[in-house]
Amino acid sequence: MTPLNKLTTTLKQTGLIKFLSHFAEQFSDIMLKDLSMGSIGEDRKVDFLGKTVTNFGSDSFLGLDQDERVKDALRKGIERWGSHNGASRAFSSVETNVLAEEKLAEWLGIEAVLIYPSVTLANVGAIPGLVGKQDIIVLDQHCHNSIQEGAKIAKANGSQVLFFEHCDPSSLAKVLQSAGKYRHALVAIDGIYSMSGVIPPLKELNKVCMDNNAILYVDDAHATGVVGTKGRGTVLDAVGNYENILLVGSLSKGFSCLGGFIGCTQEMKSLLKWKSNTFIFGGPVGPPYLDAICTVCDILSSGEYELIIGRLKRNLNILVQGLRSQGLQVLGGATPIVSVVVGDEEQTLKAGHILFQKGFYVQSVIFPAVPYHGGVLRIQVNANHRPDSVKDLVNAFQELQKEIEFPTAGLKNAA
Ligand SMILES: Cc1ncc(COP(=O)(O)O)c(C=O)c1O
Repeated sequence: MTPLNKLTTTLKQTGLIKFLSHFAEQFSDIMLKDLSMGSIGEDRKVDFLGKTVTNFGSDSFLGLDQDERVKDALRKGIERWGSHNGASRAFSSVETNVLAEEKLAEWLGIEAVLIYPSVTLANVGAIPGLVGKQDIIVLDQHCHNSIQEGAKIAKANGSQVLFFEHCDPSSLAKVLQSAGKYRHALVAIDGIYSMSGVIPPLKELNKVCMDNNAILYVDDAHATGVVGTKGRGTVLDAVGNYENILLVGSLSKGFSCLGGFIGCTQEMKSLLKWKSNTFIFGGPVGPPYLDAICTVCDILSSGEYELIIGRLKRNLNILVQGLRSQGLQVLGGATPIVSVVVGDEEQTLKAGHILFQKGFYVQSVIFPAVPYHGGVLRIQVNANHRPDSVKDLVNAFQELQKEIEFPTAGLKNAA
């Protein structure tokens, strides 16, 4: 047996792999994981496994992935730049990168923006770069995996990492006050928790930070483009300013392009360029996508945004009202991520499979993405779903309840 074979055997014996393999083997016909999409059409119709279904599993909340102006910007970007600029931005950037950052900053009402190739690379690069040995990082216990990975690197470098209870300002205050002496504290949270759609009490959390010499780091990936005034996310409307906040956003979800960013002061931007290893030692977003990001910024900053967001809210209302009126336990609803609690893992997979057979793709989410026995059907509503398709999905849930027993209350769930 080679050392590599031995490693493969060891990995197969870890708890997580055993758990997931058990489901993959026992429920291979209903898992619906690793799906490969054959085509995409109007009304978010997609072809999976040779079957056409309406896709309720896309983060392209505004439907801009199918917008001709966005596609055109990509085509023109390829003509202008080719597919790639082939160098870390520590050396040089294409002009459109600078322009995209300026446009994003203007749209957000923040001093400056630094674009990373993804939100994961922003979190994993910036978090360890911001803190040192005398500093602490305090995480919401359900914050996104990429924040936690960034915190692990910071911990390996000597920072202390602590957790507070999900969305609980008093728990945050307790953790900060009992942490001992620190130079800086970075409190990292999600702006929307992506498995439940929950929005944290930002104003209260920021106040606790201000009272305890801590900076608030908000990963607003799921809110970028779809929540708040002009789609600027959860932060500005809730807190009123960005004075004590580092704002992380996504260009791959509501924006339908590629990348992530950190919004901050001009001075902090310059520091992050030197302190984020993923920025220095990795490549940038491809230039055509930067052109597309500029186009999306123009759309979001125009009067048309209200029309697009209006379509999204209309669809979201149909879905949430329809599901709640059936007595289902619905998480979220203020944002385009809506989760229906099922609980048991097998029942969650089975429910997703039945909906698939009926012509709807939603994501069956089980442990470890949610707590054990906290399975949910996660539905992502988009502005370019036809209202009738959303109504059809609601009706399909009515049918589904004849085959699956849904809990109506009392199940603990999480981010
Ligand atoms: C809060 C949050 N942060 C980060 C990410 C990862 O983003 P990316 O795919 O850009 O790395 C996600 C993805 O869903 C997310 O929900």
